[in-house]
Amino acid sequence: MWLKSQILLLCCIASEVWMVKHLDSRRNFSRGLYSAEDHQSVKWSRLKRSLYQGKYCKTRGCCAGRDDGCSFNIASRAAVCYCDQFCTTGPPGPVDCCADYWDVCDNSVEPTKSDELWPPPTAGCYKDGRYYGEGATIKDNCNSCKCFQSLWKCSNNVCLVRPDLIHHINTGDYGWKAENYSQFWGMTLEEGFKKRLGTLPPSHSLLNMKETPRNSLPEEKFPAFFAATYAWPEWIHDPLDQRNCGASWAFSTASVAADRIAIHSEGLITDNLSVQNLISCDTRNQNGCNGGSIDGAWRYLKTHGIVSYSCYPSFWNQHLQPPGENHCYVSSELGKNYTTGLCPNALEQSNRLYRCASHYRVSSQETDIMKEIMDKGPVQAIMKVYEDFFLYKKGIYKHSYNAGSQWKIHSVKLLGWGVLADKHGQKQKFWIAANSWGKSWGENGYFRILRGQNECDIEKLIITTLG
Ligand SMILES: *[C@@H]1O[C@H](CO)[C@@H](O)[C@H](O)[C@H]1NC(C)=O
Ligand SMILES: *[C@@H]1O[C@H](CO)[C@@H](O)[C@H](O)[C@H]1NC(C)=O
Ligand SMILES: *[C@@H]1O[C@H](CO)[C@@H](O)[C@H](O)[C@H]1NC(C)=O
Ligand SMILES: *[C@@H]1O[C@H](CO)[C@@H](O)[C@H](O)[C@H]1NC(C)=O
Repeated sequence: MWLKSQILLLCCIASEVWMVKHLDSRRNFSRGLYSAEDHQSVKWSRLKRSLYQGKYCKTRGCCAGRDDGCSFNIASRAAVCYCDQFCTTGPPGPVDCCADYWDVCDNSVEPTKSDELWPPPTAGCYKDGRYYGEGATIKDNCNSCKCFQSLWKCSNNVCLVRPDLIHHINTGDYGWKAENYSQFWGMTLEEGFKKRLGTLPPSHSLLNMKETPRNSLPEEKFPAFFAATYAWPEWIHDPLDQRNCGASWAFSTASVAADRIAIHSEGLITDNLSVQNLISCDTRNQNGCNGGSIDGAWRYLKTHGIVSYSCYPSFWNQHLQPPGENHCYVSSELGKNYTTGLCPNALEQSNRLYRCASHYRVSSQETDIMKEIMDKGPVQAIMKVYEDFFLYKKGIYKHSYNAGSQWKIHSVKLLGWGVLADKHGQKQKFWIAANSWGKSWGENGYFRILRGQNECDIEKLIITTLG
């Protein structure tokens, strides 16, 4: 008897080692389960275990692949866990068919006898240690799941935040790190594309716009690092937050225009410009929070002009229904420097309109873009956004091909560049750009992206104005 249990114990340890390796190779299984703390107690638990052997499997009848001969004692929990992880892969996430797994093995609080359902229910589903009856529905990230015949049946949307993609990026050698953003959790990728971007593909006339003549200066003529925020510290405006309004066309344009006006006026005008003014009033061929074109925005800024943010704040009238939000509260007449009415907000007196000169296109040559930024200030760039970009936290972004091939157009503000050696000693050149997803995203609202290789088309179409 003693010898027999020693042999079983050896088998047990061997399969534990195998289990750990096996789990390591399955990267998206995030919850490590087995940590036998004390081989002596494993031996003891095996003896105890033999009393119950096979019981869970028999009562629930769904433990395919389970090894009843393998168990681990978790001393701190006074619990025995069995090698039944093979059956924990059903959606949504780990669902154990053996009723003790979450209660005793993966529960941070000590289980009490009264918490356990005994005998184990014959129907129903488990999720994160909780039992749900037949017919229950839950939300799992961006999908909804219903317990049907003891199995979760889930909708099949691709979520904007995919934990397996975050893990893949953070354990890989991509030069940047990803994060689980709570503001994106629960959204589908489709919703992300719709609500967090919002720049229409550039029109033919924009793509055919003449580029400024190429200078093609050698890169040595430029400093290794440049940031408009250091060159004009008081005049560059912070990254904005478009929230779930798909209007990056307006956010990027207003942000570049505000910087350019401040630089051009040598600091006389440093006001924030009202993005809401653009979204609600520039409605010809524009769709507000459902997308718009940057050339339309630039034309509106030249002909009508917009007021400051303090005159016309963003979404200032949130208690209004959506049609109210889209109502244009200021009217500008050609040639007038002030709106015909007061600011739609009693705290601000100045209803001055800010206008820009015509927009123009900068050559896509890397050093021409650098020269433009260094001499005159930030520029607007369009870019392709793939799903991994939403997860960017820090580093030098480049699209990882594991993140699918779907993309949509976005527009951002380029305001500087730099170069860094990566961990293999290779020089990595980057642009510094401001996004419009708030300051909790990326590097305080900014991101860095590979420079000189037209990564995600970032160098393809560069637009700006004189101020
Ligand atoms: C892990 O992720 C891959 C790719 O996303 C998927 O095909 C596979 O089914 C996942 N495995 C588990 C155990 O969830
Ligand atoms: C990601 O964040 C959400 C919301 O903040 C949270 O519910 C979820 O558990 C997190 N997922 C991971 C894998 O950390
Ligand atoms: C511009 O807006 C930011 C926040 O969006 C604010 O912190 C800043 O003070 C504003 N600047 C001006 C001049 O209104
Ligand atoms: C509007 O402002 C511009 C520039 O500041 C100025 O040249 C022009 O005379 C002003 N127009 C009117 C009607 O006040």
